[in-house]
Amino acid sequence: MLTIALPKGRIGDDSLEIFAKIFGQDFRFAERKLILEKNGFRFLRVRSQDVPVYVYHQAADLGVVGLDVLEEKGLDLVRLLDLGFGKCSVSIGIKADEELDFSKPSYKVATKMENITRKFFSKKAIPVEIIKLYGSIELAPLVGLADMIVDIVETGETMRQNGLKPALDIMQSSAYLIANKNSFYAKKHDILTLHNKIAEVVSGS
Ligand code: PRP
Repeated sequence: MLTIALPKGRIGDDSLEIFAKIFGQDFRFAERKLILEKNGFRFLRVRSQDVPVYVYHQAADLGVVGLDVLEEKGLDLVRLLDLGFGKCSVSIGIKADEELDFSKPSYKVATKMENITRKFFSKKAIPVEIIKLYGSIELAPLVGLADMIVDIVETGETMRQNGLKPALDIMQSSAYLIANKNSFYAKKHDILTLHNKIAEVVSGS
């Protein structure tokens, strides 16, 4: 039995579609259920930021999660396969009528991705104060909480609707199949068999 942690939302739904193709039948989590067993697999439904945690502690052998979340968590996991969906970028956003300008002595940056943000600015030796938020990041520059934001941009619509624009991409992200290191050795055959089936589905779609 392989246990696979899937995030709630789009990436989780797209992942279940891949398994539906592999199994030849549609299936989904029953409403409010967090565990789903099907054809010798056990699926866990968790928050996307928690997927690497479940896999790192081997509560799940495998997981599907965005590269942005993996980078932010920084846990030691096996990255098995880029699934090619859930594409987005992690970008610096500023007010639409401003230009990116790093000549001030310091900046306030609002984000939910503290680690990615800290790494980016420290590599560039730009002093920043990071303001950790949990959502609605685009609001921060509009009310003077921050000079800029670091956030996910998928279509760019949220920034546009709030008078912001992406000024610089920090990284590109997409959904990855990840594995726990011990599981990868102990269950290598099963994991590679599944990996190959998933690779076949995603390359054919
Ligand atoms: C993300 C992100 C942006 C939005 C970007 O939020 O924080 O607000 O999506 O998407 P867009 O470029 O297509 O407008 P999400 O919907 O994941 O909600 P969250 O803030 O609760 O994480």
